[in-house]
Amino acid sequence: MSKPSVYVTRRVPKEAIDIIKEECEYRIWDSNDPVPRDVLLREIAEVDGVFTLLTEKVDEEFLQAAKNLKIVANMAVGYDNIDVDACTRHGVMVTNTPGVLTETTADLAFALLMATARRLPESDRFLRSGKWVTWEPMLLTGQDVYGSTLGIIGMGRIGTAVARRSQGFGMKVLYYDYRRNEEVERELGAEYCSLDEVLKRSDFVTIHLPLTSETYHLIGARELGLMKPTAVLINTSRGPIVDEQALYQALLEKKIWASGLDVFEEEPVPVDNPLLKLDNVVLLPHIGSASIVTRTRMATTAATNLVAGVTERCPSNLVNPSPCKHS
Ligand code: GLV
Repeated sequence: MSKPSVYVTRRVPKEAIDIIKEECEYRIWDSNDPVPRDVLLREIAEVDGVFTLLTEKVDEEFLQAAKNLKIVANMAVGYDNIDVDACTRHGVMVTNTPGVLTETTADLAFALLMATARRLPESDRFLRSGKWVTWEPMLLTGQDVYGSTLGIIGMGRIGTAVARRSQGFGMKVLYYDYRRNEEVERELGAEYCSLDEVLKRSDFVTIHLPLTSETYHLIGARELGLMKPTAVLINTSRGPIVDEQALYQALLEKKIWASGLDVFEEEPVPVDNPLLKLDNVVLLPHIGSASIVTRTRMATTAATNLVAGVTERCPSNLVNPSPCKHS
């Protein structure tokens, strides 16, 4: 019997390819740049499965082009690049890579919070540009992290991991989510609040929600207006959850003190994005899960899901369980 065929949309760690080639014929866009859409649509015409990144839009056009498709295995925990309902209608399984990136992403969120609070990138730029002439009492002073109040919007896996880290810094944790997380309330004394209350009372607000039609622009001008003028907003989830234009205005007018962003409404960030001109924002190129071990695990998890989906097994991490006919 011939092996199932799959397409891999980017150069990925060898460990993932080793898993795939064991049971599948595969073709790959073997580059660090995204595959052009016309090439992608041509390549998926006959395949049983596709290994995707968050740069590939899986929509009706994609599904129409891939007549034999059984599974889309996304190498990310977020899957807002995929129209899951359309996949379900076409009988296509969708998988993601939850769990393996939780701690790494929480590390980055906390690092970004610290870097923003204490102005680390700005201080580095200051020193390198030869501006450091003397020790000054109020030079590059920031906000204290220890003993402050942390507001977590989205108390799922990553939000909880961030909350645990905050305990070492003596932080009081407030949180908002669509449902309560009683375990985190018991374990860490986290206080469940309305979104407005989290925004009003927190010194640091960090977002850990998926992007959906409900969370799009959840944080806009009104919400930013509720925050303290000394507060810091951190976003390592998805850019469009924050209205970036409203955030720019709030930072420009010092309505909030600073922001640390790993995600943006448009990625890669265009060089003329006005945020690049502000000193009170720390900008990272979507590196939340970017440790060597974790990115390798994400790739092998997606590869394992892909192989299961094309070999009559139910993959783990199904986002839409109904299309799996093998259970
Ligand atoms: C990265 O942003 C992911 O969703 O895994």
